[in-house]
Amino acid sequence: MQQIAWPQKKREMFSHHFDSTIWNNFTFRNDDIIIATYAKSGTTWLQQIISQLIFNGQAGLDVSDMSPWLDLRVPPPEVKMPALETQQHRRFIKTHLPVDALVFSPQAKYIYIGRDGRDVLWSLYNHHATANELFYQALNDTPGLVGPRIEKPVESIVQYYHDWLDKDGYPFWAFWENILSWWQIRHLPNVHLLHFEKLKTDMPGEIKKIANFLHIDIHPENWNDILEHCSFDYMKKHSAKSVPLGGAFWEGGSDSFINKGTNGRWKEVLTKQHSEKYEQLALQNLGADCANWLATG
Ligand code: A3P
Repeated sequence: MQQIAWPQKKREMFSHHFDSTIWNNFTFRNDDIIIATYAKSGTTWLQQIISQLIFNGQAGLDVSDMSPWLDLRVPPPEVKMPALETQQHRRFIKTHLPVDALVFSPQAKYIYIGRDGRDVLWSLYNHHATANELFYQALNDTPGLVGPRIEKPVESIVQYYHDWLDKDGYPFWAFWENILSWWQIRHLPNVHLLHFEKLKTDMPGEIKKIANFLHIDIHPENWNDILEHCSFDYMKKHSAKSVPLGGAFWEGGSDSFINKGTNGRWKEVLTKQHSEKYEQLALQNLGADCANWLATG
């Protein structure tokens, strides 16, 4: 599959963080794992799970360093690419791009995690509102920036929700096309789709499915460690090891990032009508099957 250029309008609005062209110069290995998500959908959790599977439940891994966000503009490719080249372990790389903005390798394994957009939004607001000066500098002062600056949100979460829906993903990236692009290729043998809610309700079962997909044998003596190290409480306590830059971009450090780990917090805040606005857009943009999967897992 070839990279598809994004429409100019979208590029202008959504290219603060990433440069998808980095994939053009990426040399795949046959056992590479690509973790793909729309942001705030469980990326860090999935990175932790995969690190635990690769490293047999080992504690203390610097997961964020090991599993870089390839298409993020910082650090630049001159830093990121050589570091990835020298990795001796099985690589697991993060992206927030829709699949048609990547170079898709038939050999690599792609894992995509989805989460209801309202849960994503609640998580995103926290991520954005608790970010510190360093975060805004890194985004806004990055060479190659196009489009508006990203500022700290001053509006309420409800207004933020409406803006995000009305301008599809504003002020970050388009939401629907990200989900749909991965949903449409879910039947490919090198693609595995999972859902945040399913992972919450049956983490052991979902981890086994991931291991199976990646052809990784779980040694029974490591199983309890793997489960413990992927639990919310453990990840919250050791968040500096899994969160980007050890949490340096957030006012409360990495603890703000591994925030609540729950779904449905919007239910107490959004009116029925406001919630239905999301449901209608989901149906319109994703179709019934995909919208239903995203809502329920
Ligand atoms: P909340 O902000 O709703 O708490 P991402 O890594 O894609 O940015 O997603 C972050 C979200 O995943 C945050 O959600 C975070 O708390 C949640 N998360 C991370 N690890 C988790 C775990 N082990 N169990 C449950 N949720 C987890």
